[in-house]
Amino acid sequence: MRNFVFGVVVTILVLLIAGLGLALLGFLPTRANRSPGKMENHIAMSALDNSVDRHAPRLNNPVPPTDENLIEGVKIYTTNCAGCHGNLDRQPSPFGESFYPSAPNLIRDPPDDPEWHLFYVIRNGVRYTGMAAWDKTLSDPDIWKVTAFLSRINKLPPAVQDFVKASNAVPAPTSTPEAHDHK
Ligand code: HEC
Repeated sequence: MRNFVFGVVVTILVLLIAGLGLALLGFLPTRANRSPGKMENHIAMSALDNSVDRHAPRLNNPVPPTDENLIEGVKIYTTNCAGCHGNLDRQPSPFGESFYPSAPNLIRDPPDDPEWHLFYVIRNGVRYTGMAAWDKTLSDPDIWKVTAFLSRINKLPPAVQDFVKASNAVPAPTSTPEAHDHK
């Protein structure tokens, strides 16, 4: 039994050292203009979702979804996020698609995660991706406002839709297909 455990430990160590060696010798690809494989994507997205579930406090959005706050959310989104996550005109973002993993188009394909989940991701960022932590750039109430907007993209009140139309000269993105999970 002792020999067996010893064997398992040695095997794991050898594999770890071999992996590290291959990385240090330059065998790992670094190009970002490739798409992650299906398996890599699945494992990474599950690990991310489960980590957020484990770490994020279950907070309710303290900012009420009034027209005014949602319009603020639209402005915060357009200024800070649209370059990577897609403009309100719903066109693809070649820049956002150039990350590894690519930035999801949050307007065409709105997230259906709960608000506490979005708040946590936006505030703290996602390690090893292009998604920065916004806690040094945006105040918590501003992060909640953009969260409120992202959670309601397909059901914005008329005044907010009007604002989107007027500021972007495009129809508000209310007729996109049902929101779904980015898994
Ligand atoms: C420089 C590009 C960039 C900017 C700017 C950016 N993001 Fe991201 N964001 C990304 C990338 C890349 C990912 C994908 C991370 C991943 O797949 O794990 C991401 C992921 C996300 C996710 C998770 C989506 C999901 O399906 O789980 C949310 C929510 C998000 N960003 C919101 C925002 C908000 C809100 C802003 C503006 C305050 C913003 N991002 C600004 C690049 C960016």
